Amino acid sequence: MNLPNLKEARKRTEKQVEEKQVDYNLKETFKNKKYFLRTYGCQMNMHDSEEIKKFLEMLGFVETNVLEESDLVLLNTCAIRENVHDKVFGYLGRCKHLKREKPDLIIAIGGCMSQEENVINEIKEKHPYVDIVFGTHNISDLPRLLLEKKEKQEIDVYSIEGDIYENILYSRDSKITAWVNIMYGCDKFCTYCIVPYTRGKQRSRRLENIVKEVEELKKEGYKEVTLLGQNVNAYGKDLQLGYDFKDLLEQVAKTNIDRIRFVTSHPWDFTDEMIDIIAHYKNIMPYIHLPLQSGSSRILKQMGRRYTKEEYIELVNKIKEKIPNVSLTTDIIVGFPNETEEDFQETLEVVHTCQYDSAFTFIYSPREGTPASLIPDNVTIEEKEERLQRLNTIINQYSLEKNKQLEGKIVPVLILGENEKDKNKVYGYTDTMKLVNIPKKEDCIGKILPVKIIEAKSFSLDGELVMEGVKNG
Ligand code: SAH
Ligand code: SF4
Ligand code: F3S
Repeated sequence: MNLPNLKEARKRTEKQVEEKQVDYNLKETFKNKKYFLRTYGCQMNMHDSEEIKKFLEMLGFVETNVLEESDLVLLNTCAIRENVHDKVFGYLGRCKHLKREKPDLIIAIGGCMSQEENVINEIKEKHPYVDIVFGTHNISDLPRLLLEKKEKQEIDVYSIEGDIYENILYSRDSKITAWVNIMYGCDKFCTYCIVPYTRGKQRSRRLENIVKEVEELKKEGYKEVTLLGQNVNAYGKDLQLGYDFKDLLEQVAKTNIDRIRFVTSHPWDFTDEMIDIIAHYKNIMPYIHLPLQSGSSRILKQMGRRYTKEEYIELVNKIKEKIPNVSLTTDIIVGFPNETEEDFQETLEVVHTCQYDSAFTFIYSPREGTPASLIPDNVTIEEKEERLQRLNTIINQYSLEKNKQLEGKIVPVLILGENEKDKNKVYGYTDTMKLVNIPKKEDCIGKILPVKIIEAKSFSLDGELVMEGVKNG
């Protein structure tokens, strides 16, 4: 990627941002104007949207879910696969229409797609009605961009990451569970993946700042934190301060927050000590999302994943041995260039061996600028789709089987809120991250309560509350 290196130009500290906000008397500028925000992609992007929301609210905006009502449309995009690109440009078509009726409508695009040079060119050439394009490294520039909005399209995207900001303010979606960034970017450069280009090199936050954030969340009444990173097991490697992910996990566990989760794990950096810490602390949830990507060592090598099928299985066996009730989920890509039926069979073999609780499965999507996108591919899309279907059938069978094992059991569930479709029900998650729907009782939201599992389905469980006041364990 060849975006301008404006590192020098953007040495804006958090303090300066704060000062600017005072200067502009933010609340008045967009008072009661409505914003419409769509977020695509991973939890990291969702969490970025919580930062974006906070800025918009500081500017006086209020949220709407009706596109036609909005004064600002903001799309926080994802670049991981081509299908998001199509969705985003589909949305832009609707916005273009709306802007004809509402010329003052502001259209802004952020997130990983705006870090892609080809996307920027596409917006410049074909979508001149888009007002603002900002990147993943300069979310904090959004207030300035809105306040100083020019007549012409403004592209404010940097190729260089800049410093980590601390004390970021978020408008969090939940008062019960919170995302906590522990690191930004990724250094792994898997050959198919765009993330290292859109999010930059790995940058870990300092351990003490993360622990402080968790302590504050606990004080505010949060029950659960999810530590976020593209490769959490590599946490700290870039800092070289003598601590790593196991130390972070242990320190976060010692805050005594009720529940700790973390995503995403990478098999390459997963050490035995980390498994021991997860097994030892009751408030670290027995749930590990461990992307496999492929079960064929030949394909794994071409993907640049740095582990073999055998090493992956060995790691899973160790995890299952030390954390007996662990729930294991994964990501799998089918149809990597020139994947043979034998390669695919090896993926199925690993699925049978690991018996995942669930999995996200994808058809390989070539991403411009990545090494894999240059490999000529002899596998037809029909073959890829057919493999995906076969894989999903097996994955779903295991999901149902795993869920069935919970029928009749009493498990702790953190109740998160009302079920959107049925107001007489609430929903929550087991410590193993399984979704449970439960008939509502007074005052249950925000609590960890014992729930008897009545019926298991492939993607959720039905349960009922049995009594109050019991914690994880
Ligand atoms: N950092 C995490 C996940 C990153 S993106 C990890 O290393 O596992 C989430 C998932 O999207 C990946 O695990 C992978 O399965 C999938 N993915 C990434 N790039 C893709 C591509 N080009 N085509 C299809 N799926 C892809
Ligand atoms: Fe992408 Fe690999 Fe980094 Fe995950 S570890 S974000 S798949 S490059
Ligand atoms: Fe997508 Fe960017 Fe996340 S590409 S998956 S939003 S890091």
